Amino acid sequence: MHMAKTIAIANQKGGVGKTTTAVNLAAVIASAEISVLLVDADPQGNATSGIGIQRGSFRRSLYHAIVLAEPIQSVIDCPPSLGLLTLNALTAAKSLLVPIQCEYYALEGVTELFDTLARIRRLHNPGLTIQGLLLTMYDERTKLSAAVASDLRDFYGQQVFETVIPRNVRLAEAPSYGKPIILYDIHSKGAEAYFQLAKEILAHDTKGVGPGIERKWCGPTATREAIRSPLRVNRRRTTLARGPAGRAYANTRCGPRCT
Ligand SMILES: Nc1ncnc2c1ncn2[C@@H]1O[C@H](COP(=O)(O)OP(=O)(O)O)[C@@H](O)[C@H]1O
Ligand SMILES: [Mg+2]
Repeated sequence: MHMAKTIAIANQKGGVGKTTTAVNLAAVIASAEISVLLVDADPQGNATSGIGIQRGSFRRSLYHAIVLAEPIQSVIDCPPSLGLLTLNALTAAKSLLVPIQCEYYALEGVTELFDTLARIRRLHNPGLTIQGLLLTMYDERTKLSAAVASDLRDFYGQQVFETVIPRNVRLAEAPSYGKPIILYDIHSKGAEAYFQLAKEILAHDTKGVGPGIERKWCGPTATREAIRSPLRVNRRRTTLARGPAGRAYANTRCGPRCT
């Protein structure tokens, strides 16, 4: 049996764009006439309903999809936890793609995710690679988005995708029509971004397993500066971001920045 190249989309934080990325990446790859299997590993079933399929309406199972369809590429949408379903997905996958929402707490929990990745590599899946970190819901009107992006690139370098997914209302609307973005509004910025992402993935394959990815995140620099300078940041966001900032720093072992 042909084994598909499998990308697991995981981040134990909810609402960071895992499902949106899984559905739209799969759709764009399929539009290039590459046979794709989209696996909905989240019991909430958002990827399923997001492509217009009623949950429980199929007699056939994942087994049939893998054996009969012989996909070339599989995309697994993981639930927002590091539980058994995510562990299974990471065991089955060739690579891991981590969507990161452009907000102050962007990297909270990512260290645990990479610890889990290291454990899975050690115990079950030594070949598991990092496909890349993907910045999602990027809002070009706020300095905070730019600051989070700049911090991430500083810290993780090449392992961050060049493609950035913008905050785009069409991406949020599409699932309510049961459609991926390319069938809902192919001219939207969201569609354009997912086309770019697929291109980047197909062209560069994986971002590799360099040491940078498992370094501990020790707090933002540019992000903090953006937050401290009210003139440079959207006001509402500043307030939202400020409260938790103290706690975020209190939790880091070596202060705002590792040296
Ligand atoms: N780039 C984006 N622009 C606007 N809304 C988005 C974007 N990505 C995701 N969303 C919306 O944000 C919410 C959370 O996204 P989702 O993909 O379901 O996250 P997750 O699967 O990580 O929980 C959903 O309502 C989704 O429609
Ligand atoms: Mg989801």
